[in-house]
Amino acid sequence: EIKDATKEDSENILVFLRKFFFRDEPLNTSIQLIESENAVCMELEEFSLKSLYEGISLIATTTSGKIVGVCLNGILKRDDPEEELHECSNPKFAKILKLLDKLEREGNVFGQFPDVNKVLTVKVLSVDNGWRGKGIAKELMNKTRNIAREQGCGLMRVDCSSYFSARAIASLGFDCVYSLKYDEYKENGEIVFNTEEPHREARIYVQRLSS
Ligand code: ACO
Repeated sequence: EIKDATKEDSENILVFLRKFFFRDEPLNTSIQLIESENAVCMELEEFSLKSLYEGISLIATTTSGKIVGVCLNGILKRDDPEEELHECSNPKFAKILKLLDKLEREGNVFGQFPDVNKVLTVKVLSVDNGWRGKGIAKELMNKTRNIAREQGCGLMRVDCSSYFSARAIASLGFDCVYSLKYDEYKENGEIVFNTEEPHREARIYVQRLSS
């Protein structure tokens, strides 16, 4: 079942993300964002809750109510002030924020779609590893598309750091408008994200929406 994620779900969502996304999303894995069993990344938790509080996110649950999927969404408007890349005291999370900032600038979605003023962006997409490959992510995307339409967005956008999320999104008819190969993204000559196979690039996918 796919449901709206509410503030009351916050703790359960964080417990879910600590178990899965914070450890197994390809960028988080490649830099070992969570270094030990009980470690937490407060910055990623805050990032996740900020999206959740926008009130347009979804969870997938079993019939008994256990969370098996999370999709955290946010809306960006053309007139929003440009987000500065803030200093981040966590050097590992700072690397991720820097990459997201590069995707934002070089992907330049509002520049590529001059007639679009409002975009729904999928910020976090995570499925329980015992439930993957069953179409849950795709179902979360289909329901998110409905939300984007209701919110009057002209475009839905997903920044895919994972080969599998990219594959799911592409099969839903989204178009890739930007990609960045991880082995070409370097700092001081060093590759920043040594991701595992088959995760070779970050891709921005978009789909135009009619109201
Ligand atoms: N091995 C092979 N193929 C797989 C696997 C796997 N382990 N997992 C998914 N796939 C395939 C599916 O068959 C499907 O491809 P198809 O359309 O060609 O049939 C596609 O990849 C995924 O489709 P779904 O079943 O809808 O996806 P799923 O529910 O498994 O969730 C997700 C995909 C969210 C990427 C999941 O693998 C996951 O949580 N990964 C770890 C976290 C992560 O990387 N999240 C995405 C980061 S991008 C972002 O957050 C915006």
